[in-house]
Amino acid sequence: MVPSETSTARRRFLKLLATSPLLSCTGLPSGWMQALAAGQDRSGISSVQEALNVMDFEPAARKNLLPEHWAYLATGVDDDSTLRANREGFTRYQLRMRPLADISRLDMSIQLFGVRWNTPIVLCPVASLKGFHTEGEKGVARAARSKGHLQMLSTVTSTSVEEVNAARGEPVWYQLYARDQWSETLKLVKRVETAGCPALVWTVDLLGGSNRETFRRAQPPEGVRAPLCKNCHEGLRKPMYEGLAEQAGGEGSARAVYTWDGIKRLKDATRMKLLVKGIQTREDAELAVAHGADGIVVSNHGGRAGASGRSTIESLPEIAAGVAGRIPIILDSGVRRGTDIFKALALGATAVGIGRPYVWGLAAFGQEGVEAVLDLLRRELQMVMRQTGSTSISKITGASVVDRFGTIPSLTPSHSSGNR
Ligand code: FNR
Ligand code: LAC
Repeated sequence: MVPSETSTARRRFLKLLATSPLLSCTGLPSGWMQALAAGQDRSGISSVQEALNVMDFEPAARKNLLPEHWAYLATGVDDDSTLRANREGFTRYQLRMRPLADISRLDMSIQLFGVRWNTPIVLCPVASLKGFHTEGEKGVARAARSKGHLQMLSTVTSTSVEEVNAARGEPVWYQLYARDQWSETLKLVKRVETAGCPALVWTVDLLGGSNRETFRRAQPPEGVRAPLCKNCHEGLRKPMYEGLAEQAGGEGSARAVYTWDGIKRLKDATRMKLLVKGIQTREDAELAVAHGADGIVVSNHGGRAGASGRSTIESLPEIAAGVAGRIPIILDSGVRRGTDIFKALALGATAVGIGRPYVWGLAAFGQEGVEAVLDLLRRELQMVMRQTGSTSISKITGASVVDRFGTIPSLTPSHSSGNR
């Protein structure tokens, strides 16, 4: 389990206050303060208006979830070090503030494959959303629609792509887990294309398997789970697998059936744009371009694929240099703040994705919670754009940040490529 940084800091502060003579001046009962300090504030906020940042939704989500569902959301791999690295990575870059620009008008829009989005913030594919709230993928789609965000739908969705597209009001991007048999993969791709999805995001970072110990530790013994999870597991039917042959193991199991030629095979099979999700090195970014990918997602699956110990934000500069503006780059993993989004854009991302934060919002408050998370992140990004004098996304460049060695990353060609 990974307690949020905010809640840890809050507990520390309350502990200090509980033992302070200042408390007697407040008129508050000391037992109340000590109870809070002891960690009983874990239940968090009770309305979206109380949230100061997206982390505030985490304890509220946790309170609503069975421990085993919480663990599925929270888990990383091995000892969760890559999960932590994703957050720490962002602290290795600082912002270069530039006041006195004319910030009366800000343009936060980006272009992806000729389509304009009002915000660079993207909802990443997360499996089985009905396991977190009855509104599930449809609640997320309605939030994405009302706030104008790009949504990627997981292969392991608990709601069919057709229903989600209807709730979104336009086809979403579809994330693909290729099946063991190519003919079964083709069936899935055809269904998604028929549903009108404009882009297919092929996730490749789980092909070697993943060891999710935080998740496994929280699982109840066999036989206990079914009665406890009855409602949600009925909702956790996988509608995209209907009509497809069974295959062994979940998506985190090792699969040795695909290599780089999978890009061409998929592109030959569909008119949809093809992105590869799970790229973490310059070499693989260059291979993706060479094999004809239309875009990449720099991702370590939110620290739940391999135990690389390396954050995606630290991988991004070498990848952006390799891609050199030829295709769009979306970055995810560990993004929690407007400043994180800004740093990713500065280091060469075209758009930036979130996973857990919107699921915290969903689990805590349904669609309203997802909308509140998106609002908070847009507001934070807007503020940092004003503070740095960046009046449009294209003005966010390598010169907007400095790394921990005092180096200002050079402007990568992707900033002037027209990908945005
Ligand atoms: C995921 N992610 C994911 N990715 C994917 O390609 N297909 C999937 O079905 C899922 N499912 C999934 C479930 C859960 C519970 C989580 C937390 C994540 C990964 C997701 O798309 C994204 O890469 C990360 O969530 C980004 O990291 P943060 O924002 O969660 O730190
Ligand atoms: C996960 C898979 C389903 O991360 O992508 O749990």
